[in-house]
Amino acid sequence: MSEYIIHILYVISSALFVLSLLWMKSPKSARRGVFAGELGMLLAVVGTLLSHHVVTYDLIAIAFLVGAVAGVPMAYLMPMTAVPQRTAISHAFGALAAALIGTAEFYAKQPTGFVMVALVLEMLLGYLTFTGSLMAFGKLQGILPTRPIVYKGQNFVNLSVFVLAVAMGVAMVVDPTQQWLLPVFAGLSLLFGVMLIVPIGGADMPTVIALLNSYAGLSACAMGFAMGNQLLIIAGALDGSSGFILSIIMCRAMNRSFTNVLFGGFGQLKVKVGHAEQKPVRSANAEEAASILEAARLVLVVPGYGLAVAQAQHKLRELYDQLTKRGVDVQFAIHPVAGRMPGHMNVLLAEADIPYDKLHEMDDINGEFPQADVALVVGANDVTNPAARHDESSPIYGMPILDVDKARTVMVIKRSMNPGFAGIDNELYYMDRTLMLFGDAKSFLTNIVKELSSNNNR
Ligand code: TAP
Repeated sequence: MSEYIIHILYVISSALFVLSLLWMKSPKSARRGVFAGELGMLLAVVGTLLSHHVVTYDLIAIAFLVGAVAGVPMAYLMPMTAVPQRTAISHAFGALAAALIGTAEFYAKQPTGFVMVALVLEMLLGYLTFTGSLMAFGKLQGILPTRPIVYKGQNFVNLSVFVLAVAMGVAMVVDPTQQWLLPVFAGLSLLFGVMLIVPIGGADMPTVIALLNSYAGLSACAMGFAMGNQLLIIAGALDGSSGFILSIIMCRAMNRSFTNVLFGGFGQLKVKVGHAEQKPVRSANAEEAASILEAARLVLVVPGYGLAVAQAQHKLRELYDQLTKRGVDVQFAIHPVAGRMPGHMNVLLAEADIPYDKLHEMDDINGEFPQADVALVVGANDVTNPAARHDESSPIYGMPILDVDKARTVMVIKRSMNPGFAGIDNELYYMDRTLMLFGDAKSFLTNIVKELSSNNNR
């Protein structure tokens, strides 16, 4: 009877996982997607706990408590801007769990044939994802140097370690009684995870994390085959394929190839900002910015990473309210890789209850910039840099950008002339039509809103 219930629970949770991914496609249904994923996971855990394979609940209860004590504060205390590294550390633990289960199965049962192949895959992916994700976490958190470390013959050395690990895995499949092989195999896999991340700059970590997510999923999928658990196969395959597709989408949006991200050492040599501070730029204060915005008919807002850093989304909402009250048409242009994680801007703007129908993807809104009276760039930089269109020497050459420079007036809120993620100067700032609004996004927006409200009261 309990087997029957478990199967039903597994089928329902598989369906919920698929629906969760489907609903994540749009900001409108994303919350439902998260809820479906959570419910699916809860049912999967309940189903697994009902299994007759569970011999004692005591250890599970202790593990649950330890996990909750670490996980709950992490979820509440980590700021939004730290989500990429939080994701990395979660993958590290998930992958380690898969690898350790594989190790225990190997020593306890010494399986052969297909099950052993699945176990080897599970452990290889699990161990390398564990150290790879820890490295990614360290780089993003600033614990490790973020710049890529590249040396001659690196790809050859890395490949050799990987091939050796695979060879050990094959030897374990051929003769599972050779138990000494496992520590060597695990050590090489762990080492490969470190070496894989060493040549990748901190800047490319979000893409790599999506890829590591995919590896962790594939490891769980292999574990499903090894343990004959269909739900693990389905959930792992969904995780593996969606993580892989996501990393491809991120590479495309940055106009980078997969190999360039993994082996390119991007960010190693930053293009000099030159004498950016000395080139003349036009700047304006909050009062001037408020009067230009007030007189506009169409304002296109371009949010970027700085909006997240400043946590200025609620002030942006207030500005939106003030302007729409005056009959100004305010729309938001979202670049696919604005910020530091997929959907970063959508999440921020949704948090501030900015209506979804005002949010437009790059391809849908780019044609509107020539008609816009003002393009208001809030903490975005690279995603607006016209060099991506014409400067073949630029590291972002070919990356599709928002055509901000085509608007009648461009206003850019940022604190300084410092570059963004790609480490390069932005020619947008030196255009005659551009006004730099120097300051922290939250305080500058606060001042503009104050100006607009006092104009209102006059
Ligand atoms: P960036 O090019 O990184 O520029 C962000 C700008 O925000 C900076 O120039 C910074 O200038 C400004 N800023 C920082 N804190 C601020 C604050 N408190 N107030 C106001 N401004 C602030 O960001 P973007 O335009 O969003 O582009 C994203 C970049 O990340 C792209 O190059 C993309 O390829 C890369 N990337 C994105 C992803 C995903 S999935 N989103 C993944 C990997 C890489 P100041 O220091 O002068 O203030």
